[in-house]
Amino acid sequence: MDRPIGIFDSGLGGISVLKEAVHLLPNEYFIFYGDNKNSPYGIKTREQIDTCVQRVVDRLLQRNVKVLLIACNTATAASAQRLRGELTIPVIGMEPALKPAHELRHSGQILVFATPATLHMDKFRHLMELYGEGAVPVEGYGVVECIEAGQVSGEKILSVLHSIFDEHLKKKTDAIVLGCTHYPLIRQALAQVAPGIPLIDGNLGTVRQLRRVLERNGCLRPPEATGGYELHTTGDASVFLPRMRMLMELAPVTAQ
Ligand code: DGL
Repeated sequence: MDRPIGIFDSGLGGISVLKEAVHLLPNEYFIFYGDNKNSPYGIKTREQIDTCVQRVVDRLLQRNVKVLLIACNTATAASAQRLRGELTIPVIGMEPALKPAHELRHSGQILVFATPATLHMDKFRHLMELYGEGAVPVEGYGVVECIEAGQVSGEKILSVLHSIFDEHLKKKTDAIVLGCTHYPLIRQALAQVAPGIPLIDGNLGTVRQLRRVLERNGCLRPPEATGGYELHTTGDASVFLPRMRMLMELAPVTAQ
């Protein structure tokens, strides 16, 4: 089916998912929206997040997308259930990768690093009931703001991360879950602050789920189709589009 895939985030974080998706599904065409004007979502109420999400979803629906990928843990927790009830196209969301991290656990703790909003919503409470043994939620205050400002490395982000993690890392830690799609963009800084600790994100799992849904619905584009992507922002395009393009280069991909 020749329709595009709609993908969005509160801002730049979704680029880490888009990169993985483009890599895994090279024949598909993606339309990406970063709601940079309203970022961060993670310190807003559920109602505020839902209002922002709906505005971006409306833009993507106008482009006749065949599936919606919410490349944002916070927006998924706030709005995925409602959107699934209202839309006729499939809606794929994200959640902190607590399940795979749980399998890495020996005797130490698993730190679940995510936005305050994600960590306080019901969806996360349910996840903790299932896989939360030894898991400690860690709120990422100030981190998304740095990334949106283009500070993915250097003193500022390192000092924010040290102030969040140093106390927690006094205890044996088996893994850190990157429960916000912005965080894979600062893997290098995180590795400096928490050396040797596995950093687990849910991007590949989510993109594999996207592929499964497309296969199941018979709407994958054929192997001869030329894929691609468009980048859009609700914020200042002269500021955010160059940052998105730069991060599309830098973002790591897991799939081989
Ligand atoms: N990237 C988003 C997430 O995965 C949220 C960042 C924010 O806007 O606070 O949770």
